[in-house]
Amino acid sequence: MYNEALEDAIAKTKRNIGRFGKRFPHVSNDGVYELNDNTDWTNGFWSGMLWLSYEHTKDEAFRNAALDTVESFRDRLDNRLHLDHHDIGFLYSLSSKAKWMIERDEQAKRMTIEAADVLMKRWRAEGRYLQAWGAKGDADNGGRIIVDCMMNLPLLYWAFEKTGNEEYKKVAIQHADKSRRFLIRGDDSSYHTFYFNPADGEAIRGGTAQGYMDGSTWTRGQAWAIYGFALSYRYTGNQLYLETAKRTAVYFIEHLPEDQVAYWDFDAPVTAETKRDSSASAIVACGLLEIIGHLESSDPLLVYFQDAVHRTMRSLIERYSTIGQADAQGLLEHGSYSVRGGASPDDFMIWGDYYYMEALMRLQNGHKGYWYE
Ligand code: GLY
Repeated sequence: MYNEALEDAIAKTKRNIGRFGKRFPHVSNDGVYELNDNTDWTNGFWSGMLWLSYEHTKDEAFRNAALDTVESFRDRLDNRLHLDHHDIGFLYSLSSKAKWMIERDEQAKRMTIEAADVLMKRWRAEGRYLQAWGAKGDADNGGRIIVDCMMNLPLLYWAFEKTGNEEYKKVAIQHADKSRRFLIRGDDSSYHTFYFNPADGEAIRGGTAQGYMDGSTWTRGQAWAIYGFALSYRYTGNQLYLETAKRTAVYFIEHLPEDQVAYWDFDAPVTAETKRDSSASAIVACGLLEIIGHLESSDPLLVYFQDAVHRTMRSLIERYSTIGQADAQGLLEHGSYSVRGGASPDDFMIWGDYYYMEALMRLQNGHKGYWYE
């Protein structure tokens, strides 16, 4: 089943090279991907899909298209275009860093370290966090972190390992510790965002941007926490991060509906109209596979997590994937970008497609993704 799904995903990715050209898919409307010129936080995912497909097939068409994306990321970095946010890890881990990992290309390595330096500029020493959005001092966002940033930290840990400069790692650890303390609640659910006083880092309150309400658990945010803390554990060996990844994963699994694919927010009232976010479940499948790799065979959660991965992947393949629709542009239907904001509440999301493919690669041939090496 996983093999058939992976082959289908790769065939669709190949067809999309011709469709997308040098542009990048973001989210879809009525089954057609919106394309842009590498201007959004999502552009790395297309690059990552091309690199995964290349590694699986060794087909040069994938490599050539992936190299084009890396060129585009070079230009984006040189001109500091659309990099005024914290999602630098999402962008450069799957593009230039993947190129370094696969080809040991020194220029790609230097480019990725340069990208890490751009992320470091968002460190606010007074408040001791990485500012997610907006310029320093921004009235709404100057003191704000968001849980998604846990997936940007691997870029900093990696830059430390490549350069020996401890600042990258210190920043990543301080941000992960702050996220663990303030974004993760006592019952292992999570806030999407948290506000601090930017002058001294004093905690103010939790909130949301894409969730149902300020105190709710936006399922994709919980997914970023699960995979992000597992990766912080991978890089640091800090057991507290693994513990947090495990606990947030149990919360996610215990709150799934019968078909094992998450609604967009665990606190949104469930009616026949409530939207899913298949992308959250695809991210969690990867996060669980990452966690499983760190568990002792005697760990009571091992079989529980393995079952959860297979139940989720089976449901994604059988009920949410576009297997059987040869012309479909996307791989996973029923993702939700922002139900609250009315943006693509039930469509293809390029990150949903990416994590679905990464999970299939992990299951099929033990690939570990491009978040760490
Ligand atoms: N990182 C942005 C999102 O998950 O929508």
